[in-house]
Amino acid sequence: MTSSSDPQQIAPKAEFVVVANRLAVERTTADDGSSGWQTSPGGLVTALVPIMQAKDGAWVGWHGAPDEELEPFHHDGIDMVPVALSEAEVAEYYEGMSNATFWPLYHDSVAFPEFHREWWDAYVAVNRRFAEAAAEVAEAGGTVWVQDYQLQLVPKLLRELRPDLRIGFFLHIPFPPSELFQQLPWRRAVLEGVAGADLVGFQVPGAATNFLNLLRRRLGWETHRHEFVRPDGSRGRASAYPISIDTAGFEALANSPEVEARAAQIREDLGAETIFLGVDRLDYTKGLRHRIRAFGELFTSGELDPEKVVFVQVATPSRERVDEYRRLRDDIELLVGRINGDLGQFGRPPVNYLHQSFPRDEMAALYRASDVMVVTPLRDGMNLVAKEYVACRGGNDGALVLSEFAGAARELKQAWQVNPYDIDGMKATILEAGRASAREQGRRMRALRKQVSTHDINRWAETFLADLDAV
Ligand code: ADP
Ligand code: F6P
Repeated sequence: MTSSSDPQQIAPKAEFVVVANRLAVERTTADDGSSGWQTSPGGLVTALVPIMQAKDGAWVGWHGAPDEELEPFHHDGIDMVPVALSEAEVAEYYEGMSNATFWPLYHDSVAFPEFHREWWDAYVAVNRRFAEAAAEVAEAGGTVWVQDYQLQLVPKLLRELRPDLRIGFFLHIPFPPSELFQQLPWRRAVLEGVAGADLVGFQVPGAATNFLNLLRRRLGWETHRHEFVRPDGSRGRASAYPISIDTAGFEALANSPEVEARAAQIREDLGAETIFLGVDRLDYTKGLRHRIRAFGELFTSGELDPEKVVFVQVATPSRERVDEYRRLRDDIELLVGRINGDLGQFGRPPVNYLHQSFPRDEMAALYRASDVMVVTPLRDGMNLVAKEYVACRGGNDGALVLSEFAGAARELKQAWQVNPYDIDGMKATILEAGRASAREQGRRMRALRKQVSTHDINRWAETFLADLDAV
């Protein structure tokens, strides 16, 4: 969503502070040079916006444009405190260390992680800047909640600057097995950095166990179940808190007459009997190559009839200056072009590919319009798209095909689960989900909906913050 209204400037001090690489909104510049704001991409922002709108807190983060110093401002019910990054820091700290080292390493090395000492130096410097910004904003005795892999050194730095604060850390992405983590030349600093938090949260229990094992084996720290003891005798905890969505908000949106009408329009425009849908950031962890290949083979073999079926793939632009992401975009567009070139009819491509971002109501209409949602990441911390689809199926219809390697698979057990590396297995399951009876789809969807409505984003935040209070 884009807005161009002038933000109202503020001088915040807050009892509750969230620190994330990105602010909830990012700077946009139109062709005429005017600037505005749009919602930042990704699950972290989707999850935290409703919490921050409900709480009177401040959000410290980067506003997405390099070499621009901005004053704190109020936007969409949230106090925003921008942290500036230079062009070189964007290249080395964000695109480099965060997204070409940590991102692939923590996602099972599905792409090769690169290790560069100058990237690490930039990562340390930028983490210090975020810690200083949070220390400036937080009121005495306040709570600071640090988010994700871009800011793993902030908890320890902040603890040194402001021992009065209660510090939480949440990792939105997977934490790797120790064999992979130990490749990292700066592994000790990262472990100590994260363990500066009073409470460290992960998406799944196995990640917390990996982290605690590394503290014991690598740093020689004592650990007892979820607790760890730092060398100065102080204690912290590490545990799993599976993140979720604003379920009621999505459900209400999907049931609104406007979204219902838009969903009907989408179905009419696509003119297919059955709509399969994929929605992902254009990221190599999301399994797009495998998924599109599977659909290509199903269309080619005639198991899916291109005259009756369409596969809609929405791919949000992401990290477009990182090499691996450029290569991925080229590969995907080549694959889609081949399938459509070979099998399409005038005005009827079997794969409808959209490299665009959409507002939330358009996403809800797409979820409502689609018969089968296909979420097949090779590795994913959680995957909120799967939960959003379920929240939007108020009629208990529709089917969810879900990768075993998404954190969400632990909770969404009644989805049709697949191993995304097994293309034949994935093809069979996609067909099975699409052909399942209304009764079978309804049985599964009711169970999925119960899980997502009882485990929503408020429950996630309340549980984490209550545990942080108790540490
Ligand atoms: P990640 O955090 O890796 O991007 P998630 O599935 O957890 O993956 O979260 C993605 C979020 O981004 C969801 O809230 C989804 O609705 C949103 N999203 C994905 N694609 C688009 C798009 N094309 N336009 C707008 N929002 C999108
Ligand atoms: O949830 C994973 C995540 O990487 C967030 O940390 C991040 O904000 C989001 O996806 C989108 O990525 P980026 O901020 O690099 O555009």
